[in-house]
Amino acid sequence: MKDTLNIPRHIGIIMDGNGRWAEKRGEIRANGHKAGMKSLRNIVEFTRELGVDYLTVYAFSTENWKRPATEVKFLMKLLELYIKNEVKYLKKNNIALRFLSRRSNLEPRLLKMIEQVEEETRKDSKMVLSIAFNYGGRQEISDGINKLLEDYDNGLVKKDQINEDNFQNYLYTSKMPDPELIIRTSGEFRTSNFLLWQGAYSEYYITDVLWPDFKNEDMLKAIESYNLRNRRFGGI
Ligand code: IPE
Ligand code: IPE
Ligand code: MG
Repeated sequence: MKDTLNIPRHIGIIMDGNGRWAEKRGEIRANGHKAGMKSLRNIVEFTRELGVDYLTVYAFSTENWKRPATEVKFLMKLLELYIKNEVKYLKKNNIALRFLSRRSNLEPRLLKMIEQVEEETRKDSKMVLSIAFNYGGRQEISDGINKLLEDYDNGLVKKDQINEDNFQNYLYTSKMPDPELIIRTSGEFRTSNFLLWQGAYSEYYITDVLWPDFKNEDMLKAIESYNLRNRRFGGI
């Protein structure tokens, strides 16, 4: 089956449902996030095996700061732990790690870790894993406009030169292809501010499976569903 599937070049995942997974088991939400991290490790490995070039996962939105301070703090710690634990595996498997993030309000220590691991894995070319952390699609677009205005002030770009192709270079995903497929776990039918620009023509796949329960077979189901879509891009 796997061999006959058309594998998307870029897959995005809204990793949702960690809290509900934990609550269902009578456990604290933090345990759901920990289980979610394990699930991510497995899916990174599996998508790499499938030959996906870009995997982009939504881990913390700009709106997630609204959560109780203890949960926010835990999620920050968990990201640090993820970087520390995974860097060896990522390097060994030629996976480049990138962050799609508004960086201005991240804690300096975390920011340093992020920049360091990006630099360390920059040349690894088998797959690019992007973690959308402190990410918001609207914030990404407004950050891009501010960068563009800087270039304008410096004479690097002139009026009427910006179009949808070159504006992409101002986004966090600069130079990455758009995702063909975006998966959302835990049954919610919304984007929650994920890849607003890049997802304009992405195929969406929504499953009731909670992120910590998302297994290889669920990934294959998503890709099978994608294979059945008739992508028209506005044509007939
Ligand atoms: C996704 O799981 C992880 C983050 C948004 C950080 P949730 O924490 O949103 O889990 P639910 O939606 O409450 O079940
Ligand atoms: C989206 O999930 C963000 C991440 C998965 C990181 P949320 O749980 O924050 O989304 P809403 O609040 O249900 O829209
Ligand atoms: Mg949620």
